[in-house]
Amino acid sequence: MKIVTIVGSLRKESYNMHLFKTMQDRYKGKIDMEITDIRSLPHFDQDEENTPPQAVKEFKESIASADGVLIITPEYNWSIPGVLKNALDWASRVDKVFIGKPVMALGVTLGMLGTVRAQMHLREILAAPGIQAKILPPGGNEVLIGLANQKFDEQTGQLVDEGTLRFLDSKVDAFINFVKSV
Ligand SMILES: Cc1cc2nc3c(=O)[nH]c(=O)nc-3n(C[C@H](O)[C@H](O)[C@H](O)COP(=O)(O)O)c2cc1C
Repeated sequence: MKIVTIVGSLRKESYNMHLFKTMQDRYKGKIDMEITDIRSLPHFDQDEENTPPQAVKEFKESIASADGVLIITPEYNWSIPGVLKNALDWASRVDKVFIGKPVMALGVTLGMLGTVRAQMHLREILAAPGIQAKILPPGGNEVLIGLANQKFDEQTGQLVDEGTLRFLDSKVDAFINFVKSV
């Protein structure tokens, strides 16, 4: 099962990127996780949507070819980061690669609320007519990781909090079943 991941932070030592790497190692053999690049996407420009730059083409192709998409993102000012919104705006036009695509949202933050406000916005965006992703239903399936500095190993960057890892295992299984059912 090919799972393409978008990480909403461009920071080198991003906790959200570290979560991706932890998952890529931990679920090796179970799912094939790869990352899609959003750093090189230009600002969305409607004049270019029919003849987009190569980076946009590659980004859209990676989403189109995925069985499911993970969006792992921090919260910026109570919403999702601009780079992530920009990527979703590109994806929402012309070939609309998210329509019907199974998506799971996860987020890591230093604060206690674990990106809940960003994820609420993200769910609204993913329901927009040009996107219409099939997001893993809420009700126990939100992965909101707060207090990141207590849960990740400073040396290796890996998520090491046992309770969080066990929770993540069960949510990844839920997503795999969801992808199979869509
Ligand atoms: C521009 C900006 C806005 C932020 N806004 C929020 C916020 O609204 N809520 C929150 O919990 N953390 C906020 N933070 C703190 C982030 O949770 C923290 O920087 C986190 O480490 C970012 O994720 P990353 O480690 O993957 O880069 C903000 C950080 C930045 C740089």
